[in-house]
Amino acid sequence: MSKIIIIANRLPVSITINKGEVELKPSAGGLATGLKSLHTDKEIVWLGWPGISTEDPELQNEITKKLGEMKMHPVFIPAEQFEKYYDGFSNETLWPLFHYFQQYTIYQTTYWMAYKEVNHIFMEALVNIADKHDIFWVHDYHLMLVPNLIRKKFRKASIGFFLHIPFPSYELFRTLPWRDELLQGIIGANLIGFHTYDYVRHFMSAVSRILHLDHHFLGRISLNDRIVEVDSFPMGIDYNKYANAVEEEETKIEIERYKRTVGNEKIILAIDRLDYSKALPKRLKAFDRFLELNPDYKGKISMVVILVPSRASVKQYQDLKDEIDLSVGKINGKYGTSTWTPIHYYYRAFRFSRLIAWYHIAPIALVTPFRDGMNLVSKEYIATKKDGKGVLILSEMAGSAKELTTALQVNPNSTADIVRAMHEALNMPEEEQVRRNRFMQSIIKRNNIDNWAKNFLERMEVVQKESELLYNK
Ligand code: G6P
Repeated sequence: MSKIIIIANRLPVSITINKGEVELKPSAGGLATGLKSLHTDKEIVWLGWPGISTEDPELQNEITKKLGEMKMHPVFIPAEQFEKYYDGFSNETLWPLFHYFQQYTIYQTTYWMAYKEVNHIFMEALVNIADKHDIFWVHDYHLMLVPNLIRKKFRKASIGFFLHIPFPSYELFRTLPWRDELLQGIIGANLIGFHTYDYVRHFMSAVSRILHLDHHFLGRISLNDRIVEVDSFPMGIDYNKYANAVEEEETKIEIERYKRTVGNEKIILAIDRLDYSKALPKRLKAFDRFLELNPDYKGKISMVVILVPSRASVKQYQDLKDEIDLSVGKINGKYGTSTWTPIHYYYRAFRFSRLIAWYHIAPIALVTPFRDGMNLVSKEYIATKKDGKGVLILSEMAGSAKELTTALQVNPNSTADIVRAMHEALNMPEEEQVRRNRFMQSIIKRNNIDNWAKNFLERMEVVQKESELLYNK
């Protein structure tokens, strides 16, 4: 019986070593959630980096055994190599470039070499567990060479690739000295998915201009021996989980607690991973400007900023943390009184019930990244609004802006635009809020995470069948 193998840099689990004992906790990322509800008689297994680098064979064995019970297979990568592949090529080359931060992009051959090596290490680990009849689904920018490595080994295999971040315009992508190899790596897959139609366009343009491959129509690349299809699959959330969470006892307790903290202040909520692509300093600046222009709101509104620590070993992320700390301090120092703190700032991950409580309490969410592949926070916020009240201010540069068209969309580079939207949000009639949100809720409900995973895998099956028919192989 063939199985579905999910290949991703991170496994959906967090590992801690407690007094020498390995402890595993499943961490339900979107993909893992979507796969849970999949109706399939096929076994689903995962292959990925376990979250720690260790060269101790005993520890490796123990981790392997424990993960095996959860149908997960670890890929161990030596620390030094991992650093160049993950901090280096993935997060100092691809991540900034694909998010239009060319000024942060490091073009360095040693990073590229490590990236190639680690993609090969993934392939070696894969060969140990795979069969040519399996279905391979490779995820994200860390592993763009893997689809073609699988193709070389299993010529007729069904291989999917999904990119969770934006695919940039050809003019940026072409600056990579390794652009050909990266594209060749991806088109080893027979189904390639992106969040939005624009990323599909950018990818197709790069394929035709760099690899000089034709495409019959926008979504299909012509190869001699197989079909490669490219399409958009906007990722969603577990809608019901968010919509129903407000009703849970644990959440209700948190809601009451937070209500006591913020009193009658109207909350403007900003939640994100700490990342320069999320434009947090710009959001703080807009809040500052808003208070400057609208002094009547002092004491009546406040901003809740929750930043989840991320990639703290990369310099840009450390600098950004300092910049935000400083900026929050300045704004609180400038406006704060003995009874009012303008910004409540948290630098840590929040448990689910607390997150939901903030979503529920906040009449406004400010989600204005400079660039974002999709942005699930914007979808979570809207899903949580059971009574339909609340206003989402959303960056037009987030992938989710393509679906969430009744949000207040802004250009995240324009402080004036964000300030205007804040004003509009604070004064929007409730009927209008409900009308806008009901529309977005219906979209988020339909394009949920279960359908996303199901659609992608079903499409892989169709493409595979058509390929067999066309090439009679
Ligand atoms: C983005 C990427 C994911 C990644 C996540 C967290 O959403 O698309 O692949 O897992 O950020 O980043 P990290 O570097 O901690 O895995």
